Amino acid sequence: MSPTPTAAPAIELIGIDKKFGAVHANKNINLTVAKGSIHGIIGENGAGKSTLMSILYGFYHADAGSIRINGQATVIDDSQAAITAGIGMVHQHFMLVENFSVLENVILGVEGGALLGRGVSEARSALKRLETDYGLEVDPDAIIEELPVGLQQRVEILKALYRGAEILILDEPTGVLTPAEADHLFKILGVLRDQGKTIVLITHKLREIMAITDTVSVMRRGEMVATRRTTETTVEELAELMVGRRVLLRVEKGPAAPSDIVLSVRNLTVKDGRGVTMVDNVSFDVRAGEVVGIAGVAGNGQSELLEAITGIRKPASGEILIHGKPVTGFDSARLRALGLGHIPEDRHHMGLVLGFEESENSVLGYHRDSRYGRGPLLDLDACREDAKAKIEKYDIRPPNCRLKTANFSGGNQQKIVVAREIERDPALLVVGQPTRGVDIGAIEFIHRRLIAMRDAGKAVLLVSVELDEIRSLSDRILVMFAGRVVGEKTPDTGEQTLGLMMAGIAA
Ligand SMILES: Nc1ncnc2c1ncn2[C@@H]1O[C@H](COP(=O)(O)OP(=O)(O)O)[C@@H](O)[C@H]1O
Ligand SMILES: [Mg+2]
Repeated sequence: MSPTPTAAPAIELIGIDKKFGAVHANKNINLTVAKGSIHGIIGENGAGKSTLMSILYGFYHADAGSIRINGQATVIDDSQAAITAGIGMVHQHFMLVENFSVLENVILGVEGGALLGRGVSEARSALKRLETDYGLEVDPDAIIEELPVGLQQRVEILKALYRGAEILILDEPTGVLTPAEADHLFKILGVLRDQGKTIVLITHKLREIMAITDTVSVMRRGEMVATRRTTETTVEELAELMVGRRVLLRVEKGPAAPSDIVLSVRNLTVKDGRGVTMVDNVSFDVRAGEVVGIAGVAGNGQSELLEAITGIRKPASGEILIHGKPVTGFDSARLRALGLGHIPEDRHHMGLVLGFEESENSVLGYHRDSRYGRGPLLDLDACREDAKAKIEKYDIRPPNCRLKTANFSGGNQQKIVVAREIERDPALLVVGQPTRGVDIGAIEFIHRRLIAMRDAGKAVLLVSVELDEIRSLSDRILVMFAGRVVGEKTPDTGEQTLGLMMAGIAA
């Protein structure tokens, strides 16, 4: 008996295997996705989620394994084959032409000559239908680069649907969205599912999985380790499956005991390389013994603020003081000497030299210190001794200080930076996106270290686009929007209130 088409799963991946050189990204993966469901795929960074979906979308070729779509064996050797099979993908980085309109982007690559009159008017009415069917409103004549990110993402979805997608793959879709935009996306996905579309949602956010999926599959180190109905699992179980051990999801901390002001920022204005004002007349203090968190959607001036405070970028005007001493315009070396520790948001460009061995990075920025050498020469033995102690204390893996830093995972690279900055015992620790690209096990560890710094009486300034991180670590929250601090809130403030402030809607 052959199965009826409606009974067949939308997607079956059978024995998918993929290596990139020595990295075994997908190990004999089996996955079945029911038609008309939202199926989450969760896993730590590097678990192999994007690789698996890229194979399904024809970007990568599997070394072994097969794919069935709606019960039919299907060869997907390029993205055109995927589109033909009814699969659409919304990428992590949008693939839209920025100076084209919504309509032009939707038609692009479908009609051959995208701008032929006939194609355009037909596409316009097709877009209108999609809009009414799925609640995907967007002005067809708007220019992409003028749209907020949430709407650009909607255009990507429209584009896939316009091409006839019955299966929609979304890879980490909420990373770039405000909480309100994310909620809106989830509503749209719900409508699509209810109309019979099949959605595969890749994320590392447990809360999103619990909120909207019907089924969830967990990947760990290239393997598919479990599949659960969402109603029959918990965030604790999923976290444990992702990491392979029990993890503490909540940061445990007592009340803060703030004392003297360590950092003062007064009417600070910072411009970017093109002369655009990115930080606009910002003032705040951070006291010893407290964590001040700066919440905001990426790109609202947080990066430039951090750069000014840590001596990487000269402010246009205003003042920065450490322990009451003006330090505006000081370079990083002078600031470090005054007790600044800095965990930069981009560890690859600012925090680490990936081609150096671990022990060298473990003292980077402090290498002129007499402990690590004489004059201009680095004493490698001293560095290695120092590195070994940090590796032990911070559980950095593999425990080999002679290994090139590039060979450590993202989480371990971040621990190298965290260990280096914290072990200097700075009076002021400035932290940018401390857990970006870091797995949950390492997140737990880094969060605990930051709270320990606070409890040891240090001033901690934390900038993160992860609202959960800001809420669980901060004693006070400042919200940045369009270069300004639009308000200060306590950490028990609801996510929605903060989200509206982050979107510039309410103060
Ligand atoms: N094009 C590639 N070349 C080499 N290695 C890759 C490539 N793409 C992914 N990898 C590696 O494969 C592993 C899985 O990556 P990925 O599928 O992106 O994980 P995830 O999406 O779960 O974070 C990682 O170790 C990653 O470094
Ligand atoms: Mg990925």
